[in-house]
Amino acid sequence: MRVARVLSIVAVVAASIGVAVVAAAKPERAAHATPTFARDVAPILYKSCIECHRATMFAPMPLTSYDEARPWARAIKKRVTEKTMPPWGSDMPHGRFRNDPRLTDQEIETIVSWVDAGAPRGDLADMPKMPAMAEGWTIGKPDAIFSMTEDFKIPAVGTIDYKYVRIPVNLPEDRWYTAVEIKPSARAYVHHMIAYTEPHSDQPTRRGSTFGPTNITGVSPNKPGLVFEPGIAKLLRAGHDVILEVHYTTNGAEAVDRTQIGFIFAKEPPAKVHVTGLAVQPKFLIRAGDANAEVKAVTELRQDVVMTSLTPHMHMRGKDMTYTALYADGTSEVLLSVPRYDFNWQITYELAAPKRLPKGTRVEVVAHFDNSPANKYNPDPTKDVKWGDQTWEEMMIGFWGSVVDRPAPAQKEQ
Ligand code: HEC
Repeated sequence: MRVARVLSIVAVVAASIGVAVVAAAKPERAAHATPTFARDVAPILYKSCIECHRATMFAPMPLTSYDEARPWARAIKKRVTEKTMPPWGSDMPHGRFRNDPRLTDQEIETIVSWVDAGAPRGDLADMPKMPAMAEGWTIGKPDAIFSMTEDFKIPAVGTIDYKYVRIPVNLPEDRWYTAVEIKPSARAYVHHMIAYTEPHSDQPTRRGSTFGPTNITGVSPNKPGLVFEPGIAKLLRAGHDVILEVHYTTNGAEAVDRTQIGFIFAKEPPAKVHVTGLAVQPKFLIRAGDANAEVKAVTELRQDVVMTSLTPHMHMRGKDMTYTALYADGTSEVLLSVPRYDFNWQITYELAAPKRLPKGTRVEVVAHFDNSPANKYNPDPTKDVKWGDQTWEEMMIGFWGSVVDRPAPAQKEQ
């Protein structure tokens, strides 16, 4: 977390310097410079694309060299100009979220001119150094590692339904953890995973169980591990197991996966704890064909919180979601707007500046669903839809991560 924050500050500083330099150099640049892959495009891909587009990851093709990227030049131009790559659903200004991967207009323009000029390679001596990518534990050495009890066999082709897998943990006592990471063994086949806890059992988890009671973390490409700030920890309750919601993808060759989850435990009980809050609305009916069904949920905060991240969750008809803080004094403020929700990307929006919300603030979440045939992901526009675990049913949850004072031992964690 800390490193990321420092990096984003560096990026902001670099960006402002960059703007100044570009502005000064513009007339000259326009006269002679056609962007080349080595000098101009590779740095953009290294910064914004290869976390997913490299051999060990799940995106369909690697983009780490000229030979890999050249055949995709047109597709790259299309995806960056329509802004569907890198994936991101919010329209809020750059700088608001520290994991915002969006390209700047200048970067998009560089890619477009490169493609329009025939995608020249340039001088390989100009190539930037490949950034080091973490392929092991990124949080440091875990104190405890728990593992799936069986291999999951991934077929060569086809789509795989979401899997819900129990990882037995069953600690004899509550433990506080300061860092957690999910590590699939077949990373190239994992689109994303979401981990939460459930009371221990010897049975497999019921298929399609909902999240809870404690959402732990997720794994998606831009979120390798979760490390809390010093003095903050999260509770791993005694007698609970981790349940993973897993979205595997296929890529032409069979594989097996046995995912692990690793925790680093706090040396002492923390002063502040990380909890997951949510506004949820299980009662709704989305009519067949309705292109803009609105569903609302509100949660009133029972204590002061510092909100650190927001994670909208809907299924395939989910269209947009907006979180608004309604303050006790009658004022309000939009915390997150996601006009382009995409079920395929379970994105957590991490606030660059964590947001203090006083007790009594109401967090209102408004979502819209598209149950019309125009929604290309819609499994069946002729059906009315209600809440349900299955992907062809719907959900409406606005999750957030927050930091609060450690509750007295008797109080339950949210
Ligand atoms: C968070 C992971 C991730 C990041 C970051 C990312 N991609 Fe992708 N990309 C994917 C996945 C997964 C797909 C396949 C699914 C899809 O098409 O949406 C894809 C698809 C694509 C495609 C379409 C391939 C095809 O089959 O037509 C292009 C082009 C592309 N990405 C380019 C880029 C570029 C350029 C960047 C950086 C500016 C980038 N991507 C960043 C994960 C990512």
